[in-house]
Amino acid sequence: MEILSAEGITKEYRISDNFFQRSNKLIKALDNVSFSIEKGNCIGIVGESGSGKTTLAKIVSGVLLPEKGVVKFRGESIYKKTDFLEYRKNVQMVFQDPYSSLNPRLKIFTVFSDIIKTHITRDHEVIKKIAVDNLKKVGLDEEHLYRYPHQFSGGQRQRLSIARCLLLDPEVIIADEPVSALDVSLAAQILNLLKNLKREGKTIILIAHDLAIVKFICDEVMVLKNGVIQEYGKKEQIFNSPNSEYTKELIESSLVKESYIRGIGADSSVA
Ligand SMILES: Nc1ncnc2c1ncn2[C@@H]1O[C@H](COP(=O)(O)OP(=O)(O)OP(=O)(O)O)[C@@H](O)[C@H]1O
Ligand SMILES: [Mg+2]
Repeated sequence: MEILSAEGITKEYRISDNFFQRSNKLIKALDNVSFSIEKGNCIGIVGESGSGKTTLAKIVSGVLLPEKGVVKFRGESIYKKTDFLEYRKNVQMVFQDPYSSLNPRLKIFTVFSDIIKTHITRDHEVIKKIAVDNLKKVGLDEEHLYRYPHQFSGGQRQRLSIARCLLLDPEVIIADEPVSALDVSLAAQILNLLKNLKREGKTIILIAHDLAIVKFICDEVMVLKNGVIQEYGKKEQIFNSPNSEYTKELIESSLVKESYIRGIGADSSVA
């Protein structure tokens, strides 16, 4: 069953090339990008820096509007939905830059409890249990609840933002480079976590620079370059017979990292 789709997404950013002028130059960050994802599947979006991955993730999660195209959840346009709060509960994004997405003035407990209060319950004990359970999933503890964002390492902050994304038990998880700031053993831990979430039936959109990362979890892969789809299809098909030179290069450059991640303990069995 299709749960989420994007159809013909085009996004342009307006920037100025001169300090004194108004914005006059357009950057096409995405050009006619479409995909669809079945419930319980994982799609990997891969491409070099600036290829449009984060832009696509933000559009799919509803925080950014495209110039053209539509995102559909269970067959319905998310822009027509009156219940956008419900969409945001079901489709959660782990942002690429965890520091800027965590309010520096708030302790983690305050951040987490605000989210749980809005959507689930105001019962303090239940809130605390949900918060601690989800911290444990990413290898953090109760003591971390009472710290401010600057009192964590970069990797811990990335794990915090994954825990935050899980609080509402969303159906779809959009993870924008969730392991890029982590060392390899922590990366393996997070990849295994995502794989387990998939086994539990979650739908995952995983963004990475590297094909090695998506290979462990994803069923389908999309390769983006300059906002245009270079390749999109089943993982096996893309790894066994890539269409473009660009994809071939990505596959070759991912091989070393792949064996390293496998060696350090990521579960590489077919999900
Ligand atoms: N708010 C913005 N204003 C203007 N241009 C932007 C904005 N955000 C992104 N861009 C441009 O759009 C293009 C795509 O950016 P995007 O962040 O989606 O890339 P990305 O694939 O996520 O890159 P990375 O791997 O570095 O995270 C880039 O050329 C970027 O400079
Ligand atoms: Mg990005």
